[in-house]
Amino acid sequence: SQQQPQPPQRRRPEYVPNRIDDPNYVRIFDTTLRDGEQSPGATMTSAEKLVVARQLARLGVDIIEAGFPASSPDDLDAVRSIAIEVGNTPVGDDGHVPVICGLSRCNKKDIDAAWEAVRHARRPRIHTFIATSEIHMQHKLRKTPEQVVAIAREMVAYARSLGCHDVEFSPEDAGRSNREFLYHILEEVIKAGATTLNIPDTVGYNLPYEFGKLIADIKANTPGIENAIISTHCQNDLGLATANTLAGARAGARQLEVTINGIGERAGNASLEEVQEHSGLIVQPHKAIVGANAFAHESGIHQDGMLKYKGTYEIISPDDIGLTRANEFGIVLGKLSGRHAVRSKLVELGYEINDKEFEDFFKRYKEVAEKKKRVTDEDIEALLSDEIFQP
Ligand code: KIV
Repeated sequence: SQQQPQPPQRRRPEYVPNRIDDPNYVRIFDTTLRDGEQSPGATMTSAEKLVVARQLARLGVDIIEAGFPASSPDDLDAVRSIAIEVGNTPVGDDGHVPVICGLSRCNKKDIDAAWEAVRHARRPRIHTFIATSEIHMQHKLRKTPEQVVAIAREMVAYARSLGCHDVEFSPEDAGRSNREFLYHILEEVIKAGATTLNIPDTVGYNLPYEFGKLIADIKANTPGIENAIISTHCQNDLGLATANTLAGARAGARQLEVTINGIGERAGNASLEEVQEHSGLIVQPHKAIVGANAFAHESGIHQDGMLKYKGTYEIISPDDIGLTRANEFGIVLGKLSGRHAVRSKLVELGYEINDKEFEDFFKRYKEVAEKKKRVTDEDIEALLSDEIFQP
């Protein structure tokens, strides 16, 4: 008879304390390199994936889902390289090492590939999933609910048997699954050794109050749930991924699955915010937190407020997220700008003019600004060169 391949042997790693050992800590699980890569046109080379993974680790992400190793030999190699390097390199003030995770369907071939890729990390995780909604079980899997439960239980136990102590299970399309069935399958996978239970709103179908209630109900009704971490995975089909994720956290989820720029299948996922270089997907100017306009101020009233005290119109500082803007107050001159902002621009450019001169200048400024989307430093210089004012 044919020799069965032996599961890879693994020495139990030396215990290194980590903030994710605290069950109340809210973990950030980034899946840019897996779900994010499912955005049309956003595939990355292994080298690009490694660069993004290093950056995610520097950002302080707790768990990096580095790919879907069974999907191609290239992806297995990419996940393995990330596990070897990023999964063993302490970062930040607390010397934190991120968990490196690989996705797998509920079958041995996928789980073997995921383990082969992630096992090199100090903290490896296998994430396995199977669909639990009526519509998916009937039309996609063509299996009965009890068959699905049996597969899930067996595959979680299989992942554990390889030596993986950190196994995440997702009931795909949980947002449209029967509640009682969810409690049942989650109870069974916890017994089989699942340590994180991820609740995906796979088609972005839930409203925030519904998703919050789903998490609260699972927490209240699933036997053994106190031994596992509840996680959210919200797709953005109705533009509610971030709101649903926050509702889930409020209801007790302690792992939040997100992607950089919210990229992902169809309308994407909840957003971690924000880097565009390697995905090739352009960030729109009004994108929260990192869009070019997120810390820019155009209206005169806002500019006046900003010049007096930045907290009037900014709830966080761009410095806190490492953004450098063109000028200290983020002021963009245009037709809505007021005297205070225009005058401060003159001072910034080195022009000192008296009040009467300024009033004349401001009238001419408004005439020019009416005709332009933005007034640049060059426009100001040109206006001044027509005038008698020289520095
Ligand atoms: O959206 C989804 O259901 C998924 C799972 C694999 C977590 O991506």
